[in-house]
Amino acid sequence: MKLAIIGGSLLKPPDSFASGEQEHVKTPFGEPSDNFISANIDGLELVYFNRHGVSHHIAPHQVNYKANMFALKILDVTDIIAVTAVGGITERMSPMKWALPDQLIDYTHGRLQTYNDINDDEVHHIDFSYPFDEALCDKLIRCLQMEACEFEKDGTYGVTQGPRLETAAEIKRMQNDGCDIVGMTAMPEASLARELDMRYAQLSLVVNWAAGKGAASADSSAQTRRHEVISMDEIRARISEGDAIAERLISRLISLLVDSVD
Ligand code: HPA
Repeated sequence: MKLAIIGGSLLKPPDSFASGEQEHVKTPFGEPSDNFISANIDGLELVYFNRHGVSHHIAPHQVNYKANMFALKILDVTDIIAVTAVGGITERMSPMKWALPDQLIDYTHGRLQTYNDINDDEVHHIDFSYPFDEALCDKLIRCLQMEACEFEKDGTYGVTQGPRLETAAEIKRMQNDGCDIVGMTAMPEASLARELDMRYAQLSLVVNWAAGKGAASADSSAQTRRHEVISMDEIRARISEGDAIAERLISRLISLLVDSVD
């Protein structure tokens, strides 16, 4: 097993990678978002990179997902944990809970989303009925339990185009579609991983109520509704609180995997 940890708004390079080697990987699909940091911890091979780049300058719709995922394949990665910050849609997905989705709905558009677009060979369709790897999710659940984190397993991640957040009507429609959480990066990351035969799971932190879902929405007075907006300061504060927890969870995961290899 070689495990990649993809950070985003959440999870800067964890301390356990401090002595890791930085590597620039060239791909036929252009530049990946960042250098890859490789480390070997007690015999477990690991890679970390951030899909938004070190200084968080690459917006979700501008990430070169094809280059990123291909680079992981070049590095012989077999398993991927993608750490993301999301908005909560259904009641159980309240801020500061961790979510392990088992399904997704893709609302993105115009993103390069397949390696099967060269048209000089047979088109390979992939099964994508269950986009997230159950065994990886089970391991993440054990880490969440060990860290006494509140979490929700299963649920549907709606992937939006961004970078703007959604309107309240869009979120209402997404809830009707069956979405529990909303974020901007799970696609095409998850399907590209599947095309390249790498196992993939999401570890998401809910950092805000999605549009129109805040506590204030329970109060139907027009006055309250007009002021029901998402606070970026609150999101930033939750992300910075979540960063430290994400790092502990990853470190638990590494120990768990090292122990299971022994
Ligand atoms: N919508 C989309 N992506 C997000 C959100 C949201 O409300 N919060 C964090 N990422």
